[in-house]
Amino acid sequence: MAAARAADGRVVAVVGATGAVGTVLLDVLAKRSFPVKELRPLASERSLGSRVHFGGRDWNVELAEPDAFEGVDFVFFAATGALSKQLAPEAVRRGAVVIDKSGTWRMDPGVPLVVPEVNAEALAKHGGIISCPNCTTIPLVMCLEALRREAGLRSAVVTTLQAVSGAGQPGIDELDAQLVATAGGAPASAPKVFRAEIAHNAVPLCETFTDNGYSTEEMKLQDETRKILEQPDLAVSMTCVRVPVRVGHSASVLVETERPLSAEAARAALARFPGIELRDDPARNVFPSALDAAGRDEVLVGRVRRDLTSDRIWLWEVSDNLRKGAATNAVQIAEKLL
Ligand SMILES: NC(=O)c1ccc[n+]([C@@H]2O[C@H](COP(=O)([O-])OP(=O)(O)OC[C@H]3O[C@@H](n4cnc5c(N)ncnc54)[C@H](OP(=O)(O)O)[C@@H]3O)[C@@H](O)[C@H]2O)c1
Repeated sequence: MAAARAADGRVVAVVGATGAVGTVLLDVLAKRSFPVKELRPLASERSLGSRVHFGGRDWNVELAEPDAFEGVDFVFFAATGALSKQLAPEAVRRGAVVIDKSGTWRMDPGVPLVVPEVNAEALAKHGGIISCPNCTTIPLVMCLEALRREAGLRSAVVTTLQAVSGAGQPGIDELDAQLVATAGGAPASAPKVFRAEIAHNAVPLCETFTDNGYSTEEMKLQDETRKILEQPDLAVSMTCVRVPVRVGHSASVLVETERPLSAEAARAALARFPGIELRDDPARNVFPSALDAAGRDEVLVGRVRRDLTSDRIWLWEVSDNLRKGAATNAVQIAEKLL
């Protein structure tokens, strides 16, 4: 593999380097001291002429096209699903390893779908492309795996409250514009990114509806969770809601384990799982919120309690959708490959 070519650093391309995830990805690569000897920030024609700052210098943004992957060791795709479909095989053909943030390859049986804390062993089977799960799936499977290791796993009922940055920079811009307009007494601009006004609202639709009445986002949560946990019949029930939060997805999760688990045992299992930080002390009003998670790499978990009508466990998890939900998970995968 090309990843072995450079002993003193890797050539790294980031497709979508000017977007919400790509910008954070550059920050995560720098903060984690990923060995980058050359950066190729790639984007669309719209960004030609712009620069990104990384490793103490500015790098010109170039066009994402097949020849841009010549001599590249790692390519992070953080653009569109269509672009990943078109260009990821071109990058692999040129000897690069692709780590893809889009939904394009996730359910391909030949492509590992990886959360390093949960199923790093799946990386051994990769054929050049590795897929990163959706930003709601990553924190969910970490919590489910923590409890599964302790007591097995039967089912999960999940309601997400998802930040607008989950829809990229255009999602952030739409919320900001509507907040500014309504603060000045004007009506909010007509929704473009979201299906209803997002300022001061909660919208029970992320992405688009499918024929079965569930949204594409909800179906990803079910399908990806089953694939990562290798439990194809796992009962995963879900509702995904968009809320006017800039960064940080939250989720309420009701988990049924195979063997009953006390709240204390569930808390202990979650606390010792890598990448999870427990923030749970009702007596002191300690719980994690989206603002706590924003800018951090850990999944924060609290409100762990036994359901009052069954043996199930409730929990509340929050994570930065741009970091652990996207960029951090992708960089962790590359670190494992090093
Ligand atoms: N946002 C999240 O929380 C999140 C979480 C998990 C996964 N993802 C996935 O990550 C990817 C990026 O999402 P995002 O939120 O960062 O979106 P975004 O803010 O809209 O950024 C999109 C990026 O892709 C580039 N791009 C778009 N069309 C292109 C084309 N035809 N050719 C080359 N570059 C193109 C854009 O370049 P220009 O600036 O030149 O237009 C920009 O850099 C998506 O696949 C998304 O599903 C996002």
